[in-house]
Amino acid sequence: MSKIVAVISSPRKDANSATIVKSMVEAAKGKGHDVQVFNVAELKDRRGCIACMGCKKAGKCVLKDEITPILDAIRESDGVILSTAVYFGQPTGQYRLLEDRFFSFIDGSFTPNVTPKKLAVVVTAGTGGADELADQIAGRMGSFFKFDCIGKVTMTGGNPPHEAEQNPEILAQAAEIGSKF
Ligand SMILES: Cc1cc2nc3c(=O)[nH]c(=O)nc-3n(C[C@H](O)[C@H](O)[C@H](O)COP(=O)(O)O)c2cc1C
Repeated sequence: MSKIVAVISSPRKDANSATIVKSMVEAAKGKGHDVQVFNVAELKDRRGCIACMGCKKAGKCVLKDEITPILDAIRESDGVILSTAVYFGQPTGQYRLLEDRFFSFIDGSFTPNVTPKKLAVVVTAGTGGADELADQIAGRMGSFFKFDCIGKVTMTGGNPPHEAEQNPEILAQAAEIGSKF
């Protein structure tokens, strides 16, 4: 049994990215894995990195807020599911808050202080840019933290919520990746 952490960062209710993540999560649970799901958008006390460099001494992020348990859970995990919508060609602000806090996963020499993990990436977009953004996220997580991307699910045409729910192909793709953890 592996420990998996899934992160949702779309602020929308019934977000397509959340639906796709859920399909991945169910498949991972079906394989007997222990899966924890976090939604950054639901947190009230969520802060970005303040560049205090405390993590370079402590070996972990010293800023204490509701993102702290997500960082701790990822640190202890074997696999991670990261998801975001495309906002102006970039991840959502909620995702970026979390991502900057991953700075605590590397030491002062940019060497990871966390074990390598399996990674799955989910990105949804209205008209485009999801593939590029998923590749960028997987690239950063690979180059900085040595996370190994086992699969990506991207969706375009996601402006109406509930769109992913009606797309069995995309849900099956997510489930297939979820079963690979
Ligand atoms: C602030 C904002 C910026 C957006 N920027 C883009 C964009 O640059 N490109 C795009 O294709 N869609 C853009 N969208 C649309 C969302 O990416 C799209 O609705 C996506 O499916 C939402 O994902 P979700 O259903 O998981 O919330 C934007 C939406 C918002 C609210």
